[in-house]
Amino acid sequence: MPGRRRRALFGALTLAIAGIAAPAGAQDGATITATIRADQPGPKVDADIFGQFAEHLGTGIYGGIWVGKGSSIPNEDGYRSDVLAALKAIKVPMVRWPGGCFADEYHWRDGIGPQKDRPVKINTNWGGVNEDNSFGTHEFMGFAERLGARAYVSANVGSGTPAETARWVEYMTAAANSSSLARERAANGRTEPWTLAYLGIGNELWGCGGNMRPEYAADLTNRFATFAKAGTGKMLKIASGPSDSNYEWTDTMMRLSGKTIDGLALHFYTRPRDADWNDKGPALGFPEAEWASTLQHTLQMDEFITRHSAIMDKYDPEKRVMLAVDEWGTWYDPTPGSNPGFLQQQNSLRDAIVAALNIHIFTRHAERVRMAAIAQMVNVLQAMLLTDGPRMVKTPTYWAFDLYMPWQNATSLPVTVDGPRYRNGTVDIPAISVSAVRDTAGAVHVALVNVDPNRALPVTVDLKGVRATAASGRILTAEAMDAHNSFEHPGAVAPKPFDAARVAGGKLATRLPPKSVVVLRLR
Ligand code: AHR
Repeated sequence: MPGRRRRALFGALTLAIAGIAAPAGAQDGATITATIRADQPGPKVDADIFGQFAEHLGTGIYGGIWVGKGSSIPNEDGYRSDVLAALKAIKVPMVRWPGGCFADEYHWRDGIGPQKDRPVKINTNWGGVNEDNSFGTHEFMGFAERLGARAYVSANVGSGTPAETARWVEYMTAAANSSSLARERAANGRTEPWTLAYLGIGNELWGCGGNMRPEYAADLTNRFATFAKAGTGKMLKIASGPSDSNYEWTDTMMRLSGKTIDGLALHFYTRPRDADWNDKGPALGFPEAEWASTLQHTLQMDEFITRHSAIMDKYDPEKRVMLAVDEWGTWYDPTPGSNPGFLQQQNSLRDAIVAALNIHIFTRHAERVRMAAIAQMVNVLQAMLLTDGPRMVKTPTYWAFDLYMPWQNATSLPVTVDGPRYRNGTVDIPAISVSAVRDTAGAVHVALVNVDPNRALPVTVDLKGVRATAASGRILTAEAMDAHNSFEHPGAVAPKPFDAARVAGGKLATRLPPKSVVVLRLR
């Protein structure tokens, strides 16, 4: 299919999702009509858009992933068994580590060799707590391998040197016995090299990574990237990119570093109250106005990706350089009583809807967005899993990732939507969002999100190029907007079977319950 037409179809949905007025014909209360063009397939959805971020922050690593071999909490060589099992079940494709802001303070040599000899430092970014470096390169790479996930390591640009990064890359990737560093790696328990899929060249160099101007950051990026050479395997270099709408950063980085990098990061955090970082709004017990403002805010992701991509197109029309949304998710006020430096927050049905909407956005931009990492994996911000001592609970966001597993490496299918709006106060956004893919086995999957917390919405989907007679799948919803899973009630929000969809005459018809995510497989 001609690329221009394909982009036009994606563009129509982009406008609708971005909050721009619905096309003529859409009326409140009317049936929503959507069209899926399976006959005009789009680009592949890289599995790595379902990547996750694990930083040395609060209990994200220590206690959340790593408890050490001597722990009374069941573990496999120091990794929590429950956390490993839960993450394997959703096929985590990629993990980013060690930060975040932590990355630009991290010195890899602190985290290798006998654990008792590793230095204890202070984590100045996150709570000022001790960092004993017991989770280092071998522990991270072992974790990624156990998950079957690709490894993304962020190098220290802010307070490190190009030589330090080059040596770290050599330590991880040099062929067995090929150099002193390869032999040191073997002496520390790993003879064969690891595959390092992504190398981050610093993190947020405009902020915690060194407060740089984009010109200076671009020069440093080129310097670090030049000397970081993987001994084995394919390693993509990801530059520190913009946050939100910092288009100047993107323009300068692409102009000065566009040829030396393989990806540019984008960071965007969703907040209910986006005016003041000291007053973001609570994770639970929020009014409908904050349900609405959160969802409106998260939909800005579409505009940010669209505009950063347009700038990237100027320098890289072939889309060789990916836009890697390697930090995204909700950021609320910390859980009352918790260490504010630990960024702990509960996770509710609202977060699952945020996750689903962002997955739809990434799918629509699959040509440019080929990797992403939700912040974060365990116990921090919009986490997949929460732990407390030996207890673990799966969050609604975990279940959203579970529902969308068929999207991993599937082919995106263009979608257009025409339907009513969800309005609350000044918020005015499309009431439903639709995404569709054809998986590697040929099956078509359709995801439908109703963001309206009050109204069930009838929807008809025109299935162009799909031969199907039935659809079945699962729904994620709950009575309350802030329904969540606690250690006492771990199963309060979890997917349930959904068989209220009918397929006939090339159309799928259903009624979407309020505040729900429905994912269907067509047969
Ligand atoms: O995810 C928490 C922090 O948010 C990261 O360390 C930093 O990159 C961002 O500002």
